[in-house]
Amino acid sequence: MNIKINSNFKNIKETYLFSEISQRVKRYSEANPGKDIIRLGIGDVTLPLPSVVTSAMKIAAGEMGEQKTFRGYPPESGYPFLKSAVQSHYQRYGVSLDISEIFISDGAKSDLGNLVDILGSNKVIIPDPVYPVYVDSNLMNGNKITLIAGNKENGFLPMPDQITGDAAEPAVIYICSPNNPTGAAYNSEQLAKWVEYALGTGSLIIYDSAYEAFITQDDLPHSIYEIKGAYECAVEVCSFSKFAGFTGVRCGWMIVPQKLTADDGTSLNKMWLRRQSTKFNGVSYPVQAAAEAALTPEGMKQCLSNIEYYRRNAALIGEVLDSKGIFYTGGRNSPYIWLECPDKMGSWEFFDMLLNKAQIVGTPGEGFGEAGEGYFRITSFGTYENTVRACDRLREIL
Ligand code: MLT
Repeated sequence: MNIKINSNFKNIKETYLFSEISQRVKRYSEANPGKDIIRLGIGDVTLPLPSVVTSAMKIAAGEMGEQKTFRGYPPESGYPFLKSAVQSHYQRYGVSLDISEIFISDGAKSDLGNLVDILGSNKVIIPDPVYPVYVDSNLMNGNKITLIAGNKENGFLPMPDQITGDAAEPAVIYICSPNNPTGAAYNSEQLAKWVEYALGTGSLIIYDSAYEAFITQDDLPHSIYEIKGAYECAVEVCSFSKFAGFTGVRCGWMIVPQKLTADDGTSLNKMWLRRQSTKFNGVSYPVQAAAEAALTPEGMKQCLSNIEYYRRNAALIGEVLDSKGIFYTGGRNSPYIWLECPDKMGSWEFFDMLLNKAQIVGTPGEGFGEAGEGYFRITSFGTYENTVRACDRLREIL
């Protein structure tokens, strides 16, 4: 063929982080058949869906098989019943949204990756370490990225005063809180500083709140819109994956406030609607019905009980690390434990050591960016039994 490709793809790693990990684990298990591997790498849930969710999904699937209740294409931005449920969900945090500001999608990863479609060439500020999708999707678009480091000193919570270059320059700023991978979470005061910076420079914050359901502390906001002024500078992306166990079902949402306008006055909300109606045909009816059920009082109760189960796993892992004097963050307001590799090991070195000596799979910090080197992420999304077994093995080898 003589076609040209998007050469920006040459600037990203050949394999996506979690694909790289599964290839390494596959090679290990082929070379060591019969070894009992415990997977605490990718943040994938292990508990089945709450019963209130599967009941709603079954009823909706049945409706699709009846002439009277069959539905064809869903609205691109979501059924009004689910948007209303999301709207009410935000009211719990004192946040009022207009229905037109809510966009239902097949998950946070897609929204975060697709957002670059509507943005031009801007300064892009991304914390490091971070969920690789922010970096990769900007590199795919040829955008230049400024990384701001999270580290032990700043509690893995980089602040605007770390931004280098022209401080007045508008930027697209990514914030994930509670953070993937570090589990660190911004409090209201810290988030207010980011909002103030964005308003002062005319910047846009892309706020990823996929892990908000894991927050336990009262002083940590669940949504950026709890901060005054955020409606004028932030979009928010959230997901049913971690909160309701939808990793295999796929549903999420994005909030694009009507007040957001670009330098030439263009409405970001209108642009996003235009983008979605061109490239996306909506989420299936049974999935949206299931998502709506997760947001009912009974659904919330069942989802939060699953989250409590994962929290117990996180506490077990934390206890082992405490007993070994290993520094870590996360686990309290997040499903992730972010630990410093012992004996100054590199993060891939520690990955290999854990896999070979204890048959535990985690995620090397370096996979989330340079500032993650020397750190390692363990997820609490495993089963309780596997987490207990992994903790026994960790106690032995650390
Ligand atoms: C992770 O392990 O970082 C997440 O599961 C990735 C994702 O949510 O896509």
